[in-house]
Amino acid sequence: MRHAPLFLGLDIGTSSLKALITNADGSVIAHASAEYPLATPHPGWSEQDPDQWVAAAHAATREALVRACAAGHAEPGRRIAAIGFSGQMHGATFVDRDNRPLRPCILWNDSRSADECEELDRAIGAPVILQRTGNRMLAGFTAPKVRWLQRNEPSLWARTDCVLLPKDYVRLCLGSVRATDAADASGTLYFDVEHRAWSADMLRDLGIATTQVPGCHESPDIVDRLSASAASAMGLAAGIPMVAGAGDQAANAVGSGIVAPGAVAASLGTSGVIFAASDSFRASPDGALHAFCHALPGRWHVMSVMLSAAGSLRWFRDTLARDATARAAAAGVPDYELLDRDAASVAPGCEGLRFLPTLAGERCPFPDPHARGAFTGISLAHGQAHFTRAVMEGVAASMGLCMEMIRAAGIHAPQVIGSGGGFESARWTSMHATAFGIPIVRAEIPDAAARGAAILAAIGAGALDPGTLHPPISQSGTTQPDRSQGPLLQALMEEQALLQRTLRLLKGNK
Ligand code: XUL
Repeated sequence: MRHAPLFLGLDIGTSSLKALITNADGSVIAHASAEYPLATPHPGWSEQDPDQWVAAAHAATREALVRACAAGHAEPGRRIAAIGFSGQMHGATFVDRDNRPLRPCILWNDSRSADECEELDRAIGAPVILQRTGNRMLAGFTAPKVRWLQRNEPSLWARTDCVLLPKDYVRLCLGSVRATDAADASGTLYFDVEHRAWSADMLRDLGIATTQVPGCHESPDIVDRLSASAASAMGLAAGIPMVAGAGDQAANAVGSGIVAPGAVAASLGTSGVIFAASDSFRASPDGALHAFCHALPGRWHVMSVMLSAAGSLRWFRDTLARDATARAAAAGVPDYELLDRDAASVAPGCEGLRFLPTLAGERCPFPDPHARGAFTGISLAHGQAHFTRAVMEGVAASMGLCMEMIRAAGIHAPQVIGSGGGFESARWTSMHATAFGIPIVRAEIPDAAARGAAILAAIGAGALDPGTLHPPISQSGTTQPDRSQGPLLQALMEEQALLQRTLRLLKGNK
């Protein structure tokens, strides 16, 4: 009997690569991951060795195949019918003419290029950049990283034959073709998001030759085939079609079924993201939202990204609440549950204590690579539990402002699909639903970006109809806004805008 085809999704994350095998309908049969380190050679720098991603792709695929076998699936390595990719966005991988990396990749969370952003805004003109790309110049994006290399490592730039995004480097090493997709290319700032093509004007003004960027395709397009050497390293058959894939946010949305126009998702992980799918290009007039292509042809999305969301609570646990881990162990509960209980012991509003979560610069709601966080309103009455709750309320207020930005773009969803570890707390979820003013429906799909990558492979192979993709909604996992707390959250959101402005002024007076 012939076995049904399977699909492999590879997600090149910031701390690990996930390999996930699905059936044609996207149901997951096995997954595995392989970790790699992140280097921070200077404050604000964040780099990775691209070849570690490739080694991780080999190892994680082999492990996923072993697990598929162990789960009773016969000959999974021979049944993989197509491979899809997802990856951390914006990273600049500079390769020479032999496709060898010239230096470590400069990642999305690297902020070294703040000066280059200012320079490019002045030289090209911020409104011109917005009009050409749909987005504003941000240090995390690719273009200012290229300018940084041109200025600081000119001999490497002279040898740069192509600038690749992380997942595209991995696919190239598994095959032979330099390629990318419209969704991932959207985060380079030399891509015309509205017309889904490289921006010749941006490339010219950045001094990037058209040969230094890969060919651009739609995410489900088959762009290459698995080489014999990669096939033997991964335990697969040579010649398997490989689709372009997508940046992790778009792939995550595909994996979570957020593709229909008007569908809105919120994720509360290290960063906080509000993602809204649409069937037309929409840029916010000031470029405050990211306006990107979605991973399906004829679909776009807007997105607001705050950099330190649940990451703020992790920072708090690891610095100001270092006793939480020991107290949690003594109480026999996970440390985040302990912090949650602490927060419950304090009245909403924390008796005036406020937290501004801009710990690592910010993209949304107040774009500023130099932004820093703050606690304000501290009194002798405040103890650790107040600080815990203030962090949670501050993050929820910031996410509420991010949602307001999405509404200002004309997208009004009746509910939002929530994912990410932060929403494991019922209390924090309620604060967010209240800040959003709409219910949050939990949809926890593990490894959604890798699943999205596998789904794109299945679509590319003609085995899955994208029209069948929908978010998995369970009404039991729905959290309604707490109307009694609405005015408080509104006030916190207004105060944040004020606080941010005040901090900017203070920095100016330094
Ligand atoms: C999206 C973004 C992150 C990175 C890392 O704009 O910066 O999603 O892709 O995950």
